[in-house]
Amino acid sequence: MEGEPIIRISGLGKDYLTAAGSVPALQDISLAIYPGEFVAIMGPSGSGKSTFMNLLGCLDVPSGGAYSLNGTDVRTLDRDQLAQLRNAVIGFVFQGFNLLPRANLIDNVALPLVYAGVGKADRVRRAQEMLDKVGLGKYGASRPNQISGGQQQRVAIARALINRPRLILADEPTGNLDTRTSQEIMSLFTALNRDEGITVILVTHEADIASYASRLVRFIDGHLAHDGAVDHEMHGSVGAASSPRKGDGTSVRGEDAAPTAASPRNPR
Ligand SMILES: Nc1ncnc2c1ncn2[C@@H]1O[C@H](COP(=O)(O)OP(=O)(O)O)[C@@H](O)[C@H]1O
Ligand SMILES: [Mg+2]
Repeated sequence: MEGEPIIRISGLGKDYLTAAGSVPALQDISLAIYPGEFVAIMGPSGSGKSTFMNLLGCLDVPSGGAYSLNGTDVRTLDRDQLAQLRNAVIGFVFQGFNLLPRANLIDNVALPLVYAGVGKADRVRRAQEMLDKVGLGKYGASRPNQISGGQQQRVAIARALINRPRLILADEPTGNLDTRTSQEIMSLFTALNRDEGITVILVTHEADIASYASRLVRFIDGHLAHDGAVDHEMHGSVGAASSPRKGDGTSVRGEDAAPTAASPRNPR
């Protein structure tokens, strides 16, 4: 850990207002994440993982507490400033890839640069560079439905990288992918973290996926239930049909009946 945290939150909470009343999705979360960390977020369905990621990504506003992103208290920013900070600092990767079906891969990857006001020639050059980086340099003219799910997620990662973010937020990025493809995607995140120092925060249900991270944060019922180092003995079993150990708060355990490597992952 070096210098200032890229994320510092204290007493963060989020209530959703519904017709049936207020739903407390997150309560009193405090933590700091430093540049270069690789953090896995785990917890049962409904425990607040996506809510947390949306707050970190400034896609939603907290109901209470404080949040500093890259040294800036986000409460001091108006909408435009927030969007600017988000675009400058964060790359997002989602479970469903979220690519534009009718645009080719170059245009998909270049899309954030349109919002940033970058000219066409520069956009194409930088998008090509990012496609090269994720191993899809030859497919720039293809459309998303012409490549595999794993390749589509690579394109989404290339798009997330195009503004040279310091931070990648990924919400169940391997949730729709088979085991082998998931491992390839995790290797890519690992390389970005290790070689380029990009901070990675990644939500997963899978113990094997979480074991790529160095720190594990676990939510239960909207509370921070655990925050500590990942037990790297797990790494030996990544991809193997192993049963994660139970009962140790520092080991990475699967949630709802963690699948073995042999069982298919179902898109939810
Ligand atoms: N837009 C929303 N409106 C109302 N309740 C929500 C909304 N989004 C999430 N929730 C509720 O907040 C809680 C946490 O949800 P979520 O953050 O999506 O959990 P997770 O990603 O861990 O599955 C759940 O009880 C969920 O039903
Ligand atoms: Mg979720």
